[in-house]
This record gives sequence, C-alpha cells and structure tokens, in this order.
Amino acid sequence: MERLDKFLCDSGVGTRSQVKPILKAGRVTVDGTVIRDGSAKIDPQRQEIALDGSILGGKRRIVVMLNKPAGYITATEDPKEPTVMELLPPQYRDLKPIGRLDKATEGLLLFTNDGDLLHRLISPKKEVPKIYYARHEGAATDADVAAFAAGLTLRDGTVCLPARLEPLGAGESLITVCEGKYHQVRRMMASRGMTVSYLERRQEGALRLGDLPRGQIRELMAEEIDALDSQRG
Ligand code: URA
Repeated sequence: MERLDKFLCDSGVGTRSQVKPILKAGRVTVDGTVIRDGSAKIDPQRQEIALDGSILGGKRRIVVMLNKPAGYITATEDPKEPTVMELLPPQYRDLKPIGRLDKATEGLLLFTNDGDLLHRLISPKKEVPKIYYARHEGAATDADVAAFAAGLTLRDGTVCLPARLEPLGAGESLITVCEGKYHQVRRMMASRGMTVSYLERRQEGALRLGDLPRGQIRELMAEEIDALDSQRG
C-alpha cells in the first residue's frame, strides 16, 4: 500500500503541491470513488486510480531493489526453501525477480512487474555489466586478471565472455561479468584455484546497492528505471 498523493506524483501528475488542489477538486477516483485525501492508502496493483476519468498507473512500471541476505533462493515459490519473495512487502509479491542470485550470495537483486524490461535485462545478448565483491582463497595474480579478460574456460568446458577481475588485496576481489550463467562467478574463480567463501552483488549497470541495509528493499525512481532500461547492451 502507498499514499495516494505519492502515487500521483510518481505517475507524473505533478509535484506534491500540484497534486493537492487536483485531489481537492475531486478529479481523482480510486475504484470509481472520488478520494480527496492525499494520505489515503492505495494499492496501485489492485486498484484502479483515475484522473479526470483516465486510468493512471495501469502500466506503471515498478522496479524494486532488494539487498538480499544469504539463505534465500531466487524463485517465486518453493516447497522447501525460503524464497526471496518472502522478503518483499505484500504489495510487491506479484513482481518477478530479474535474474538470480544463489542461495548463499548476498546483495543487489531487482524485481519488476514489467515483463518486457525483465526479458531485455536478462537477455544473454544484452546483459548489463554486474559487479560482484568476492572473498576467496589465495590472491588474484596478473595472470588471473589476463585470463578473465581473455574469456575463461570453466572446468566443465563452458566458455565465458571476457570479464574484469580487480584484485583488492589478498583474498578479496571485484569481478565484473556481462552474463549470468549458473554459479558463474564462483565457477570462474574456482577455475583459477580461488574458491569463493563470500559473494555480494554490488552493482548492475550504473545502479548501485549503496547503503541499502541487508534484507531491506527500496522502489526505484522513474529516472533510475529509465537509466537501467537505456543502458542495457
Ligand atoms: N555468480 C555466482 O556464482 N553466484 C551468484 O549468485 C551470482 C553470480
């Protein structure tokens, strides 16, 4: 649930102060009933909000960022394991995860109600660069950096696209990959003898996890969604 005035602002109707007189004038309806109180709580995914009779938000694109904790699988449902959906407030439970993080991996995971955006962002041809922080055995060498840049071949013969390995010191690195194969970063690091003990996704394209606390979510602003959409491959 969210405030009606916030929803109207996010839908581009105007600023908070512009929206107030629009509401006062009785131009906004929720499921056909005139609502004048901007603080009224609404559920845009289930209710029909209209301005002067035109429905708003029917196509409102929602993208939510979660700072995923370890211990949750990326799936919409599972009979045995806790899923990332359990970490979303009820009004976001219809959203779908964009890509996936392993059960043990933490960090930035996006969800959306826009199927087209979802498919564009996970398309293997157009994947945006994703930056991971890893703690691992050993220390990455210049040879490891070069092998990542050339495109690694994993132990099972899978060939990876060129990727960036940035050693941060003994046992710590940043890894940037533009694809999302199963356990990709862990397998890439393992192929160079550096078993990963901790993995966190920190960035997708220009979108950073920032200081969002672990286990918390925030809804992206319209400009952030547009930027995410336009920077893909
Ligand atoms: N690579 C991995 O190995 N695990 C993830 O969760 C994401 C990328």
